[in-house]
Amino acid sequence: MSVQPQSVSPLGPIGVEAALKAASDPSFTPRATFQQEFAIPGRVAVISGGNRGLGLEMAEMLAEGGAIVYCLDLPSQPGQEWIATQKYVERLGIQGARLEYRSVDVTEQEVVWKVVDEIASKEGRMDVCICAAGILHGADALEYPAKDFQKVMSVNVNGVLYTAQAAGRQMVKFGTPGSIILIASMSGTITNKDHAWIAYNTSKSAVLQMARSMACELGPKKIRVNSVSPGYIYTSMTAAYLNTQPQLLDKWSGLNPIGRIGRPDELRGVAAWLASDASTFCTGSDIIVDGGHTAW
Ligand SMILES: NC(=O)c1ccc[n+]([C@@H]2O[C@H](COP(=O)([O-])OP(=O)(O)OC[C@H]3O[C@@H](n4cnc5c(N)ncnc54)[C@H](O)[C@@H]3O)[C@@H](O)[C@H]2O)c1
Repeated sequence: MSVQPQSVSPLGPIGVEAALKAASDPSFTPRATFQQEFAIPGRVAVISGGNRGLGLEMAEMLAEGGAIVYCLDLPSQPGQEWIATQKYVERLGIQGARLEYRSVDVTEQEVVWKVVDEIASKEGRMDVCICAAGILHGADALEYPAKDFQKVMSVNVNGVLYTAQAAGRQMVKFGTPGSIILIASMSGTITNKDHAWIAYNTSKSAVLQMARSMACELGPKKIRVNSVSPGYIYTSMTAAYLNTQPQLLDKWSGLNPIGRIGRPDELRGVAAWLASDASTFCTGSDIIVDGGHTAW
């Protein structure tokens, strides 16, 4: 008797199971499924912090996979980078894929819920949520002003929860199995050497545990929740440091075995995997993508 679960992939049978079927059933035509396993045609995604940086990079990647992607961010109108990316997606001509923008402050729970409700109602589904909105602020631990600490926690913890809730509620409402990806940081696991980022680091640890807790609650509802923890990647967030303290580039680069900082496009693969059916057995995990920073 086999205790092997039925194939979960809508493409099933795939891989070795397909090979064995082909061996025993001459009418079964061999076909490579690799690219389709990662494709997400027609799926609907929301990405907070999607106006720029890591959020926008992952938004463009999901659109290349065939998704309809709504970027949520603070400015009333999206920036030049976002507009150029939207036009680029248009020019790619991938059937059904497009980028949309909505101005939302993720710290306002009711607003986030309402905007994501409107998106899901319009599109008739909700499949993927990436919570990438975040802020970085530094101050000495013993002097950290309450107001600043609360601000960091409000965006990086509350805002992540509200966005994940907003999407999760729609996934349940429309009965779509979903994938929620919380962008944490290696700073949730280690302390950045020589940086007084206690609020940021604390907030990112909270995100790691939020992903695990949500994953356990939402597993029975067919919603997977994972976190991704990037290392140092060049975006506006880190440019604020790297552009004003040029010696930091060598220092940060020397803190991982690859010997350089990362690029936003180096998160495309992990986000594609987590958003797609290629990762159907992964939930409650933190995937560290840091060039080996935390391996040392
Ligand atoms: N760049 C890195 O090295 C790095 C490393 C680890 C983790 N991260 C995390 O990745 C995520 C994306 O960061 P990034 O590097 O792209 O920085 P970024 O500053 O380019 O992007 C962050 C985005 O979040 C938006 N945002 C901030 N507050 C918001 C709010 N209240 N409501 C809605 N949107 C808001 C900003 O407007 C911005 O567009 C963050 O959570 C960050 O902590 C970044």
